[in-house]
Amino acid sequence: MMDSQQFAFDHTVSRRGFLRTLGMAGGLMASWSAAAQPGPLGVSNSANSRLFTFIGGETGNWSITDTRRITGDPWTPARKLTVVNGPASDLAGAKWLLRGVTSNERYVTRADKDDLVNRQEGLGRPDALRAALIPIRKTAAWWALTQDERRAVFEEQSHHTTIGLKYLPAVARRLHHSRDLGTDEPFDFLTWFEFSKSNADAFDRLLADLRATKEWAYVERETEIRLVRD
Ligand code: HEM
Repeated sequence: MMDSQQFAFDHTVSRRGFLRTLGMAGGLMASWSAAAQPGPLGVSNSANSRLFTFIGGETGNWSITDTRRITGDPWTPARKLTVVNGPASDLAGAKWLLRGVTSNERYVTRADKDDLVNRQEGLGRPDALRAALIPIRKTAAWWALTQDERRAVFEEQSHHTTIGLKYLPAVARRLHHSRDLGTDEPFDFLTWFEFSKSNADAFDRLLADLRATKEWAYVERETEIRLVRD
């Protein structure tokens, strides 16, 4: 009997050539295939996985309304987006996929964390019909900093958490880390936000506030993908 992980792996291999013909980087596919392949302890395919896969293509319950290059190389536009908690098992019509894992916080203080927990609301709210997927890659200079130097830029000089807190609970968010998945990942972070139509202007102000900070001097690639839930 084929279990679900075996199915995911076989499916990946059979789709590999298909995705190459769509112009996907071989490295990206290779790293993705490796992640989808069950290892000695198995790759979790359950709803408890910290891995999230974003698939841009012809299917999905989010319609992509805009794919805008902010900094660096542009990203391939697609019509629809599927978000999977775990590795992808169906790549029919896929143009691209991006992967990231949720993780522990690096920079927040206890006071920040308490504020965030008290003010933030979850994803999937019925009126949150707008979303943004913003993949971001930071410069080599950022990654050459030490943890305390990064924290100084992120919070003391840029006030990222303080700025963000002003937009809670209107904007719900989830941060995914891609950098530690491998050197072929096109971005370091996949940031995901959901909000109502009436808060779309506030979200634009949030973006403008953050992009004006010192932290964004360390952003070398950023794409803004805007979506509407079907
Ligand atoms: C909704 C309001 C927002 C809040 C409350 C917020 C809060 C945070 C917090 C607390 C962290 C640090 C987590 C840690 O300690 O590791 C973080 C990281 C991050 N946020 Fe935001 N954020 C918001 C909006 C945004 C937006 C709109 C973007 C993108 C345009 C963004 C991009 C990022 C990135 C890339 C990181 C990772 C930074 C790094 O580790 O170098 N955030 N955010």
